[in-house]
Amino acid sequence: MILGIESSCDDSSVALIDEGTLEQIYYKKISQEEEHAIFGGVVPELAARLHTKALPALLNDILPNLKDINAIAVTNEPGLSVSLIGGVSMAKALSIALNIPLIAVNHLVGHIYSLFLDREATFPLGVLLVSGGHTMILEANENGEILELASTSDDSFGESFDKVAKMLDLGYPGGAVVQQNALLCEDKDRFKFTVPLLHDKRLEYSFSGLKNQVRVEISKLETITQKDIADICYAFENTACEHILNKLDKVFKLRNFKRFGVVGGASANLNLRKRLETLCQKNECELLLAPLSFCSDNALMIARAGREKYLKKEFISHDKLTINPRVSFKKFELDL
Ligand code: KG4
Ligand code: ZN
Repeated sequence: MILGIESSCDDSSVALIDEGTLEQIYYKKISQEEEHAIFGGVVPELAARLHTKALPALLNDILPNLKDINAIAVTNEPGLSVSLIGGVSMAKALSIALNIPLIAVNHLVGHIYSLFLDREATFPLGVLLVSGGHTMILEANENGEILELASTSDDSFGESFDKVAKMLDLGYPGGAVVQQNALLCEDKDRFKFTVPLLHDKRLEYSFSGLKNQVRVEISKLETITQKDIADICYAFENTACEHILNKLDKVFKLRNFKRFGVVGGASANLNLRKRLETLCQKNECELLLAPLSFCSDNALMIARAGREKYLKKEFISHDKLTINPRVSFKKFELDL
């Protein structure tokens, strides 16, 4: 079995998979959402403390399986350094105690493998990665090497949902609750937000201006009713999705994707999924989606990505395994 460990942000998670059949042997996630909600966002120091409590509790669950583990795959980048260190420390300790190899997994690559949890991966593949920390258009080539075609210059897609939710006092995280409220909107033309960088040729995302447009509209309201919330959430979500699709449209004109996947916590957004379905149909491209319950951070995707490195024997010694809060993929400039 391969053991996967994830602790890059505010979820502590452990998974065991059979490296031959990809069968899921064990999976559990302890989310810290409730603890961070009162602060309206992730508090790194609190996240670190909660990981030191949750990770050993998860390990306790799989004590009978330890003898069957052949390698330990752990997220070592990118993420909050104080969070990453929890999972990496546990992985190192286990690797030394059990004398089994370590595999370093990039969290974003892990998200890509959430598309292939129960089957072999198929590349090449275009990918939209939308999470709380990242918004990127990527391309994985035949060898699974990842190139970055576009990214955001400020906030990420998911983060903008979190910030809008905070402005409307809807709690944290904001993605699901903003989506729920948007579905209640009955006055779809009431708020009109400008789509960011609509006439800008660059392949780039930006969500901070849209967030400010929302802030201005909220400040004009004397009291905020349930109807105001629904109307604002709808207009915001629609504009954010339009921004994503506008740039993707350009990419699809230049890259002849046969398969396209959407991953990351915010890929659970139904408005976005619907638009991507239309885009892929128009371009005769197969759309790959991760199961809804594995869109957000989880150790199963880390074990799954680790399994690819296991087959290639890409191990790392415990003294070489470091954490990297930020990482970047090789840039691939499209000729626009
Ligand atoms: O991938 P993830 O679990 O954590 C990171 O690696 O960042 O993504 C979490 C992000 C949060 O910002 C959350 O608000 C957003 O995904 N999210 C959504 C939805 N569900 C989760 N954003 C938009 N619509 C959703 N339905
Ligand atoms: Zn993530």
